[in-house]
Amino acid sequence: MGETTMDVWEAMSTARTIRRFTDEPVDDATLARCLQAASWAPSGANAQAWRFVVLRSPEQRVVVGKAAKHALDVIEPVYGMSRPADDDNSRRARNNRATYELHDRAGEYTSVLFVQQNFTTASELLLGGSIFPAMQNFLLAARSQGLGACLTGWASYEGEPLFREAVGVPADWIIAGHVVVGWPRGHHGPVRRKPLRDIVSLNHWDDDPGPLADGPYSVS
Ligand SMILES: Cc1cc2nc3c(=O)[nH]c(=O)nc-3n(C[C@H](O)[C@H](O)[C@H](O)COP(=O)(O)O)c2cc1C
Repeated sequence: MGETTMDVWEAMSTARTIRRFTDEPVDDATLARCLQAASWAPSGANAQAWRFVVLRSPEQRVVVGKAAKHALDVIEPVYGMSRPADDDNSRRARNNRATYELHDRAGEYTSVLFVQQNFTTASELLLGGSIFPAMQNFLLAARSQGLGACLTGWASYEGEPLFREAVGVPADWIIAGHVVVGWPRGHHGPVRRKPLRDIVSLNHWDDDPGPLADGPYSVS
């Protein structure tokens, strides 16, 4: 069990990605609350043309493990990643170590596939906008309950056909994302993000936002 919080500001600001998990299984009640929160998200025209497919049978975990391996083969050269030496304790080494552990042990965890119906009238970006809010709600509900989670792109790359076949995703549905969940080994903690001043402008692209960017803000 991880650290819980009912404070939405604390949940949002400390919901960093967790990639290392204990062996304790995720119970139905905790997972069901995450799924409920996902279902409360907005979607275009309130269409709710989504499916959340929980993957936890031994067969589906094998598929998840294979997709994770494919993903690792793709991202290693893209991000210039390699397995860190045991005595390297730099931030990068710690991040990479956690990422390798997640991919190596992927087949041991419960995960959820987020699938969105494809409407040819909408762009893929717009369709993504109708399901990523559900994933964010899921992540925040996980954080609130002390559960750790990692959104993955494993359904992209070569994992897509694997998931599609194993789950039986209809041809007119798009696999948007995949979230691994588990009880954290380690802690939730503050997310690291750019300062508001670098990303907010007022009225025009380069205009200073003034006090709107004086943060960090929170309400308590
Ligand atoms: C669309 C998307 C895809 C992601 N895919 C992966 C992934 O395949 N593997 C992974 O370890 N993390 C993945 N992440 C997690 C991001 O790396 C992470 O959210 C980001 O580095 C910020 O770190 P933080 O969540 O700890 O603040 C993904 C996040 C998003 C939004």
